[in-house]
Amino acid sequence: MYFTSSLLVAALLGVAQAQTPSGFKPEVKAKLDVMFNSTAVSAPGKLLTKAETGSQPQIAVAGNAVNGSGMYMFVMMDLDVPGQGTNTTRRVLLHAMNTGFKASSQKISSGSTLLTSTEKGPAAYIAPGPPATDTMPHRYVEMLFAQPDDLAVKATDFADTSARIGFDLDSFMTKNKLGMPLAANFFTVDGKASAASTPARSGSAGMPKSTAAPFTGSARAVDFSLGLAGVLGGLVVAAI
Ligand SMILES: *[C@@H]1O[C@H](CO)[C@@H](O)[C@H](O)[C@H]1NC(C)=O
Ligand SMILES: *[C@@H]1O[C@H](CO)[C@@H](O)[C@H](O)[C@H]1NC(C)=O
Ligand SMILES: *[C@@H]1O[C@H](CO)[C@@H](O)[C@H](O)[C@H]1NC(C)=O
Repeated sequence: MYFTSSLLVAALLGVAQAQTPSGFKPEVKAKLDVMFNSTAVSAPGKLLTKAETGSQPQIAVAGNAVNGSGMYMFVMMDLDVPGQGTNTTRRVLLHAMNTGFKASSQKISSGSTLLTSTEKGPAAYIAPGPPATDTMPHRYVEMLFAQPDDLAVKATDFADTSARIGFDLDSFMTKNKLGMPLAANFFTVDGKASAASTPARSGSAGMPKSTAAPFTGSARAVDFSLGLAGVLGGLVVAAI
């Protein structure tokens, strides 16, 4: 397991570490457990591969953050999509927005409550696909929100990838009257195949200059037939 010394110190002191990248607003301190088939985001910023993140993760959160009657939504975005042409400003891409999550009766090994939804949208999961030519790993932020009863988002709002580029979380939250995220997490994926063994970065390195490479992440086929046992991999699941 990989810990930066500051994370270790924070853990020893019981200090709440931000789960969101440095400088990201809103900053979130509560951890969203994000679990892919074969691996979990064990520490914020953990470096994962494209293969590991190829299908939608399962999510779980501390039981006191949710209740049995609440409805929740999951949002995931890439903060580091290269700018277009000579524009060096990186852009946000909405990778997933899934509504209809409810607390299940299952807990993962950390004691967190597994959240489940039968809904695939309104924005179906797009697997991370940072360009192989990019200069840095991309940061992928995941957030859990309480879902407003009158949320008015449609799959057609996000039907094609171009409608997801430049996703503005602040205005989305304001427009849809979302409260602050209940929990969050983030991981990183490096487009360079050789980067698989690089340790996790803290996300505090700021925004390096973009390459002029076009965004090459494509909307890959999404697999929602996730068997729970398979998805949770080695994580122990205990029904309560
Ligand atoms: C359950 O949580 C939801 C979302 O945070 C909240 O809107 C609702 O009031 C809560 N219900 C109870 C009974 O606490
Ligand atoms: C560069 O891209 C950013 C983000 O998409 C945009 O806000 C800005 O207007 C662009 N600048 C130019 C000169 O096109
Ligand atoms: C994840 O597991 C599901 C079944 O449990 C499988 O269908 C899917 O292909 C797996 N995805 C990856 C990326 O391994």
